[in-house]
Amino acid sequence: MLWIKTLHIVFVVSWFAGLFYLPRLFVNHAMVEDGATAERLALMERKLYRFMTPLGVLALVFGTWLWLGYDFGGGWLHAKLVLVALLVAYHLYCGRLLRDFAAGRNRHGHRWYRWFNEMPVLMLLFVTILVVVKPF
Ligand code: HEM
Repeated sequence: MLWIKTLHIVFVVSWFAGLFYLPRLFVNHAMVEDGATAERLALMERKLYRFMTPLGVLALVFGTWLWLGYDFGGGWLHAKLVLVALLVAYHLYCGRLLRDFAAGRNRHGHRWYRWFNEMPVLMLLFVTILVVVKPF
């Protein structure tokens, strides 16, 4: 079980590297005026999204393996799964935002993206409290 948990944590950390960095690219992209830099950022966003998606899938696969394979349960896990569903929705919404940028359809300013960028930080804090402290 400890090997599965090790892999779960490694893929969670790797996925979060993308969840922290991609919205930061959006902050910069929303401030850019010249086309060459905008194209460069769009390429970086596309490559990062393609890289971080399988990492997220593997984090969820090993988490589910822990949950179903080792009989974990309790209110903390249910609350954690709700936050994980929000994280998956956030990831998919980032995919939509990068397509909007690439098609010149971005509707948000850099300030909006700075607040958007803070959401994974809060979710990581709450999920970690739930899984380590198990408050209920
Ligand atoms: C389908 C999604 C997920 C499921 C079913 C799941 C399930 C689990 C289970 C059953 C454990 C073992 C708990 C224990 O040993 O006490 C665990 C550990 C852990 N999970 Fe997840 N998890 C999922 C996604 C995530 C995500 C998205 C994060 C990060 C935000 C995360 C962070 C952690 C951490 C840090 C641990 C280690 C806790 C410890 O060793 O005390 N998990 N997970």
